[in-house]
Amino acid sequence: MSRGAAGRDMRSVWILILITGLPAGGSPLLLLEPEDFLEKYGYLHQDHHIHNAVEVQSAIREFQWLSRLPVTGELDSATLRQMAEPRCGVSDEGSQQIWAQRVNVIFTGKRHHRKRRSAGQAEKWYKRHLTYQIVNWPHHLSLSSVRLAVRAAFQLWSNVSGLVFQEAPGGPADIRLAFYEGDHNDGASNAFDGPGGTLAHAFLPRRGEAHFDMAERWTLNGHKGHNLFMVTAHEIGHTLGLEHSPVRHALMSPYYRKLGRSLVLSWDDIIAVQQLYGKPLGDRPVRLPGQVLDAALQEWEFTELQSRHETPGQPLYCQGVFDAITMDQNETVLVFRGSVYWTVSAEGSVSGPLPLRQRWPDLPPAIEAAAFSPLDSKWYFFKGKRIWRYKGSVLDLGFPRRSSDLGLPHHPDCAFYYAPLGHMVIFKGSRYSVLDLKTLHQEPYYPRRLTDWTGVPQGTNGALTRPDGRLYLFREQRFWRFDPVKVRVTRQGEWAKDLSWTGCSNTPQSNNVI
Ligand SMILES: *[C@@H]1O[C@H](CO)[C@@H](O)[C@H](O)[C@H]1NC(C)=O
Ligand SMILES: *[C@@H]1O[C@H](CO)[C@@H](O)[C@H](O)[C@H]1NC(C)=O
Ligand SMILES: [Zn+2]
Ligand SMILES: [Zn+2]
Repeated sequence: MSRGAAGRDMRSVWILILITGLPAGGSPLLLLEPEDFLEKYGYLHQDHHIHNAVEVQSAIREFQWLSRLPVTGELDSATLRQMAEPRCGVSDEGSQQIWAQRVNVIFTGKRHHRKRRSAGQAEKWYKRHLTYQIVNWPHHLSLSSVRLAVRAAFQLWSNVSGLVFQEAPGGPADIRLAFYEGDHNDGASNAFDGPGGTLAHAFLPRRGEAHFDMAERWTLNGHKGHNLFMVTAHEIGHTLGLEHSPVRHALMSPYYRKLGRSLVLSWDDIIAVQQLYGKPLGDRPVRLPGQVLDAALQEWEFTELQSRHETPGQPLYCQGVFDAITMDQNETVLVFRGSVYWTVSAEGSVSGPLPLRQRWPDLPPAIEAAAFSPLDSKWYFFKGKRIWRYKGSVLDLGFPRRSSDLGLPHHPDCAFYYAPLGHMVIFKGSRYSVLDLKTLHQEPYYPRRLTDWTGVPQGTNGALTRPDGRLYLFREQRFWRFDPVKVRVTRQGEWAKDLSWTGCSNTPQSNNVI
């Protein structure tokens, strides 16, 4: 199949290019050559793949305009960096014109016929009441949390437009959301590619389909992984007929955005959906800042976890990605996720989920790394640009402190006390730092490359040292065991299945000595 045919039909592909692991200031790692990139996203025609310099320059200008870069027509470093950003892979073709028309309507009140991408292709729904169905969902998230996130994503749009959405759990439905792995029968070029790379794609109205890569680390909270609510909300925009927007904070900007403090929908998203479907009936448009929605998602997940706890079976963290893990001086393992934590005693009994704030007041939800240090019997928590330190439940004076003041990176992957060094070790991307807990300063000659830890992967989400001195590192469902004597990884596997002390095997007091 030709690349062009699939590319035109497909409305959106999220591309994430991992830039971690590159030396600072190095050139960004492009998934595609610049000209292939410009073809894929609709800036250059795809016939014969031959373009003259004038065409390429004008394509670069157009790309720079939509990406809000200085329009130079040259492949400067800012432009190359922008091409490597995580983005939605829908062709940007026509986005500039459609946006210009949208703005024109605001100022002149005149409506022009929208350019159609190709003849015979409808670009909007001709009814206001639409149904949707969640066909399947990632196994590490519960259906009810996914359902709440998806409902909120649809609400974003119905709260500001004349549309009404209703879930049709059993189908049939106008819009179907489904998770797939690899090739899933919509063309070889649409095949999903495992963690990273392509995250999701969606189709035009009225095909009404959004597909998500099952292999991604989908999350509803925190910084680790891709926020399912945000990606769903963007994909829904496409299923409703919206194009990409050049407005920086627009949800329909081609670039992936985390759920932050700002409003999720910009004025441009609202005008775009209202020009297709009108204003909401009666009420004024309702918009909530990202942090309010974020808090709501946390709340939902907590309620969900509580209700799960009452039903027997494995604790919920066993199936998913946790935020952090550590072990205290009583050999109790603590697993952190969102606003809660679980404990697994040395004997293997699991308790929780327990609210984080009950034990560590003032600690924010969705921490990124946690480590209990046997050296000073203190708890260290890391999130964003800050560090919290507790003695028991009491926050130490002067904390939270800025990570940069201690010479440490922001948003660490994991942290653990490492006896052979007598210090705290912090992993972040391709590097690690070593923190002297007495002086609270980074040791000289660090950060160093992660390759010092032979066999340890990048992007781990937690780590702890077991009583036998061996270090365990976790990434999603897998673990790596690092032997400090042999100085290399000596075992790998699936932690929930293979490590009884994680509290996930069905026989808590297993004799399985690992
Ligand atoms: C939509 O509006 C309702 C109030 O009418 C509000 O409760 C809800 O949180 C809003 N949802 C979103 C996602 O903005
Ligand atoms: C460890 O156990 C002792 C006694 O069993 C208890 O007093 C202490 O609070 C425990 N420490 C932690 C961190 O739970
Ligand atoms: Zn998109
Ligand atoms: Zn697909």
